[in-house]
Amino acid sequence: MGKNKKIKRIAINTGGGDAPGLNAVIRATVISALNRGWEVYGIREGYNGLMKPEDYPEGGIFPLTRASVRGITHLGGTILGTTNKGDPRKYPTRGRDGKWFEKDRTSELVAAFRRHRLDALVALGGDGSLSIANVLAGKGLRVIGVPKTIDNDLKKTVATFGFDTAVSFATDCLDRLHSTAEAHRRIMVVEVMGRYAGWIALNSGISGTADAILIPEIPYDINKVAGAMKYLESKGKYFGIVVVAEGARPKGGKVCVISRELGRQEKLGGIGEQVRLELQALTGRECRTVVLGHLLRGGSPTTFDRLLSLRFGAAAVRALAEGRSGVMVALDPPKVRYVPLEQATKRLKTVPPDCDSILTARSLGISFGD
Ligand code: F6P
Repeated sequence: MGKNKKIKRIAINTGGGDAPGLNAVIRATVISALNRGWEVYGIREGYNGLMKPEDYPEGGIFPLTRASVRGITHLGGTILGTTNKGDPRKYPTRGRDGKWFEKDRTSELVAAFRRHRLDALVALGGDGSLSIANVLAGKGLRVIGVPKTIDNDLKKTVATFGFDTAVSFATDCLDRLHSTAEAHRRIMVVEVMGRYAGWIALNSGISGTADAILIPEIPYDINKVAGAMKYLESKGKYFGIVVVAEGARPKGGKVCVISRELGRQEKLGGIGEQVRLELQALTGRECRTVVLGHLLRGGSPTTFDRLLSLRFGAAAVRALAEGRSGVMVALDPPKVRYVPLEQATKRLKTVPPDCDSILTARSLGISFGD
């Protein structure tokens, strides 16, 4: 797996939550690699195909050919499967006493790559999966990361694939909710994913002409949100649309967590219902909640996401051919560049409270509840 060893065989995997565009990246990587005379293998469900091959009677890793990637560019999901439970740095393991604990199994994983004579890995993932990829690169595996996530929360790339599709879908949903909100004179509270970043809420909220947008980066005061709804009413607008990021929290309050489990990040959710109940009490108006949740991860990637994914996959193979490792492909228009995984995963890219989109929203009279 040395840096200068000629590449013959590479692997590709998809980790964390799925995002539209994964299959397009897989196709571009496979075809670009095959065109260089390399063999390509898919690892099932993150690293599980290598860590628990016994769970896959059909093979934990399997060859990817032109036929395997034909006609998949426009498909959501991932033909490799994915997981956000199999972090090899803290793999849920049962001790002799029967209790579960988290164990670092990254060295075993690198050994498994060697056993399969895999010269390099193209790892598609968000901050969690790319931090794992960084550790594997540190242990001598040649790795190229590809930034995936609907949350758009990765530093060092202008965009991650999947985000544009999620925002387009959320915007479409907001458009549809306007008519029913107006017909019933209701306030619709729409909860969207995004983890600790408010990008999906912000971009869809502005594009879908929301009246208030609540994001993790700007803790809100529910009285201010209610005030914004009352102001609209005083101006003759008897309905409202409030977009709430799942990671939003009130000033001095906490993020809504559904559960915490071994070996995975905490699950967020529930803030939409909390905001609905409080708004209903404060405004005396009928409020309803819609949680877009996993719908944001489905469907066909937009043209932007498809093109980005295909560019990323091709660039990942070029990076390997140029002898690079431990880097992530990144969009820096008009170019795709390579940035160290270390830098890309150090901190999340959250919404700067003074960025142009926030200023635009404020100019348009959208409330952030601050
Ligand atoms: O990171 C993508 C994402 O969809 C987040 O927006 C969300 O918090 C999380 O994954 C949900 O993960 P799961 O599908 O495991 O509940």
